[in-house]
Amino acid sequence: MHTELTIHPVPVRAMNLPKLWYQNNPVKTHFFNALSTLFPQGENFFISSIRNFEHCARSPALKQQILDFVTQEKNHAAIHKAYNRCLARAGYDVAWMETLLHDKISFGQKHVPPLVLLAVTVATEHITAVLGEKVLQGDLVPEGIDPELRKIWIWHALEEVDHKAVAMDLFVEAGGTYWQRVRAMLYSATGICWDTSIRMFHMLKRDGLLFKWKTWWQLAELMFGKKGLVPLVTWDILRFFAPGFHPARHNNYGLVDHGRRLLGLEAAAGHFP
Ligand SMILES: [Fe+2]
Ligand SMILES: [Fe+2]
Repeated sequence: MHTELTIHPVPVRAMNLPKLWYQNNPVKTHFFNALSTLFPQGENFFISSIRNFEHCARSPALKQQILDFVTQEKNHAAIHKAYNRCLARAGYDVAWMETLLHDKISFGQKHVPPLVLLAVTVATEHITAVLGEKVLQGDLVPEGIDPELRKIWIWHALEEVDHKAVAMDLFVEAGGTYWQRVRAMLYSATGICWDTSIRMFHMLKRDGLLFKWKTWWQLAELMFGKKGLVPLVTWDILRFFAPGFHPARHNNYGLVDHGRRLLGLEAAAGHFP
């Protein structure tokens, strides 16, 4: 990992969110918008879960990777906050979405052991890394969508792939177990599906599109189409359940440089475990 990756692809203050920025497709637009509404609080949750155990990191390399992880996630949270402000200005109830997630995270932080919260971070980081891989492979945010929004998603995706092993490495050093992370993935995967769906449905309803046949057709396409989420990500998510799973064993780090080139940046030198 490298901190030089932590650049904002677009100035936060100048962010502009076109209405249907994903090829005029409201379902795909709002799927990504819904993910965006989860990020600022989600990423702050990852940071605090990791900080709870940073003293367990023994190697200087992992200590540095934790610092880089925190910087990257803070930057993501900042840009997605600006993104979400655009959604609020467009009339979507972002405050309601933030309250829901705030209550859920606070409940967890009050009642769930910190190592379990770290396991949830490990599982969620795997999901974001898988989604990031698909973005960088050109399957989820292809050419032809709004170029500024594409930049943001590519930037976020490449940093998710870049730091995908950090939470897992720390979890192992902190004494986390296989069953803890398995249970965490079951919780995390269903939670993300639910949290994303209710936000997406809210935005489609607000646009007056929720009860149209075309919307449900587009939804089926997003889920089960040739490049739909189910065929794209299911197998990669399931790899997490293998007892010997470790994110770094799936070596897709070349995609980080690919993403940098898509953003017009030089490939970075000398990275990765
Ligand atoms: Fe992130
Ligand atoms: Fe992340």
